[in-house]
Amino acid sequence: MTTVQDLQSMAGSEHITMLTAYDALTATIADEAGIDVLLVGDSMGNAILGYDDTLPVTVEDVASRTSAVARGAEDALVVADMPFLSFGTDRGESVTNAGRMLKKEGANAVKIESGPHTVDLTEHLSNLGIPVMAHVGLTPQSVNQTGYTQQGNDAEQAAEIVEMARAHEDAGAFACVLEHIPANLASHITEELTMPTIGIGAGPDCDGQVLVVTDATGMSDWTPPFAEAFGNVREEMADAIADYAEAVEDGQFPTEEHSH
Ligand code: KIV
Repeated sequence: MTTVQDLQSMAGSEHITMLTAYDALTATIADEAGIDVLLVGDSMGNAILGYDDTLPVTVEDVASRTSAVARGAEDALVVADMPFLSFGTDRGESVTNAGRMLKKEGANAVKIESGPHTVDLTEHLSNLGIPVMAHVGLTPQSVNQTGYTQQGNDAEQAAEIVEMARAHEDAGAFACVLEHIPANLASHITEELTMPTIGIGAGPDCDGQVLVVTDATGMSDWTPPFAEAFGNVREEMADAIADYAEAVEDGQFPTEEHSH
C-alpha cells in the first residue's frame, strides 16, 4: 500500500505517477499497471459526467466514486478531490466533507484547489489527520475568473504561485499539483520546496506527473495540448460496440456457442 510518506521519499529520486480514476474497474487496471496515486478528480465533471466544467460536481459524486476507486485499488494511494464549494466556506462543513472521504469512502488523502482561503484549512485538516494535497497554477474551479489559460507567465503571477505553494507546504500539505504553468516555474518550485510536486502541463522537472485517465488512454474527444493519448481506447470501444450492434442486427450473435 503506497503511503503519503512513500511519495515524500520518492521526491527527487523516482518519478511519481498519478492518474485520475472514477470507478473500480479503471482503478484496478491502473493499480495493476503500477500507478502510485489514483486521484478521484473533480475532472469527472467534464471527463465522464457530461458537464462543461467541474463546478456542478457534488460531494456525493466524489464520495460514491471515491468508494468505488478504493474498492478497486490495492496498492495505489487514493486521493479524493474536494469539489467546488465543498470547502473554504464554513470550516465545520469543510472538515465534515473532507473527513467523510477518509472515514467512510476509503480515501487516504484529499486534494484541495489552493487559494489564500485554504492555508489555515490545510493546517487544520493536516492536524486532524487528513493529509492534504495542494493544487496551484491553473485551478479549474476558478474557470470563471481565469479561464483555462496558462498561469504564472509574468513575474508577479509567478511569485504569487511560488508563495501559494510555499504557504501550503508550511501549513502541512504533503504534496502539490502544479497545473498549466511554465516549465521553468514548475522546475523552480520543485527545487525550492520539500513536498513532492506533481505536474500537469508543467514540464518535465516536477517530482511526478498526473493525467486525466480519459486523455491518457485516448478516450476523450478532445485533449488539452499538454496531455498525451497513450492509446486509442475511444476508437477500440466504438469499433467493438459497432461490431456488436452489427452482429445482433445481422443475426450473427448469439450463435449456438452462446446458447445453453
Ligand atoms: O480533477 C482533476 O482531475 C485534477 C487533476 C487534473 C490534477 O485536478
